[in-house]
Amino acid sequence: MVALTLPGIESFLVGECKALGVPLGRVGDGWVEVASGDAAQQVRGAGTLRALIDLIWRGPAESPPDRLPPAQRLWFEAQWINRGRETAEVRAAVVRAAGGPVEADLDGPPDLVAILDRGGVLHIGRARVWGCERRRPYRVALMARALNPALARAMVMASRAREGDLLCDPCCGSGTVLAERAMLGPCRLVGVDVDAGALDAASRTLSGWVAQGRVVARLCHGDARNLPLEPGEATAVATNLPFGHRMGTAADNAALYPALLREAARILRPRSRLVVLTSDRRHLRGGLRACGAALRPRSEVRVWLGGLEPTLGVYDRTDEPLA
Ligand SMILES: C[S@@+](CC[C@H](N)C(=O)[O-])C[C@H]1O[C@@H](n2cnc3c(N)ncnc32)[C@H](O)[C@@H]1O
Repeated sequence: MVALTLPGIESFLVGECKALGVPLGRVGDGWVEVASGDAAQQVRGAGTLRALIDLIWRGPAESPPDRLPPAQRLWFEAQWINRGRETAEVRAAVVRAAGGPVEADLDGPPDLVAILDRGGVLHIGRARVWGCERRRPYRVALMARALNPALARAMVMASRAREGDLLCDPCCGSGTVLAERAMLGPCRLVGVDVDAGALDAASRTLSGWVAQGRVVARLCHGDARNLPLEPGEATAVATNLPFGHRMGTAADNAALYPALLREAARILRPRSRLVVLTSDRRHLRGGLRACGAALRPRSEVRVWLGGLEPTLGVYDRTDEPLA
C-alpha cells in the first residue's frame, strides 16, 4: 500500500508513520510505502497524508498494464509539470486498460486511482482513504488562497511549536497554519493579516478550540512588518507568504520580504524557528540577507503544489543580534 503526500514533504509523512509505529518500505516522489492491513487504520489520521491506495500495479509510465480490473470510477492524478503530451498518452492508456470512465469529481473516493509521479512512475491501485486534507473539520470558510492543510501541517511540524509555546503567523489569512497547530493540542497563537475579511475567517476557523479553552488565540488586523509582540516573545513563526502571483506582485515582495523577515527575527526567541513558504525565492534570499546572522538556514525543500513549486524554508533564530 502507498500513502500519498505532497511531493517535497515525504519526510514529514515518514516521521508521522514512524511515530505511529507503522512499518515503512520505499519512499518516492510524493509517496511512502506502508505495510497493508492495520497500517491503513493507523496512518489515516496522519496530518500530512493525502491518500492511501492499495497498489495493484506500479511501473514505468511508458508501459501501463494491458488490462486492469474493471473499475466503475477511475481517477487519474498526474504530478508532472510541462509534460502534458506524455501525461495525456499515459492517461489514455490507463483508461483503456481499466475499461471504465474517468472520474474527475473528487468529492467521493474513486474505485481505482492512477498516480503518475514526477519521477515518471505510474502507481495504480484501489483507493483506501482519499483526499484526507479535504475533510479538515475547521474549514468553515474556504478562501481561494487558503493553504493546503497537509502542507500547513508540515510547516507546523517544522516549526516545532510545542505546548506552552507561542506560534505567530504574520500573514495568517484564513488561519490554516494556526488551525493545524491547534489540532495538535493546547497552544498560544498569534495571527496577523492586512485583510480584515481573512481575519474574520481565521477567527471562525479557530473559534471551536478557543471556546473549549484549548487554544489562546490573538488575531490582529495589521501589518506583518510591525507585529504586536515583544522582542523574543514568540517561540515559533510559521507563515505562507504572498507569492506575488495570485496575491501581490514581485515588486511588493521586494519591499515586504526583508522587513517581514527582520520583524520575524525580532520577535523570535533565540534557538527557535522560522518556517516560510513562498515561490519567490529571489526575494526570500534578499530578505534572509537583510537579517544577517540572526537567521541561519536549516533546510529548504521544494514542494509540488498544483503547478507551483514553492520553497518550504526552515531557519533557526540564532543568538546573534539583528544588525
Ligand atoms: C498566501 S496568503 C495566506 C493564506 C493562509 N495561509 C490561508 O491558509 O488562508 C497571504 C496573506 O498575506 C496577507 N498579507 C499580504 N501582505 C501583508 C502584510 N504586509 N502584512 C500582513 N499580511 C499581509 C494577505 O492578506 C494574505 O491573507
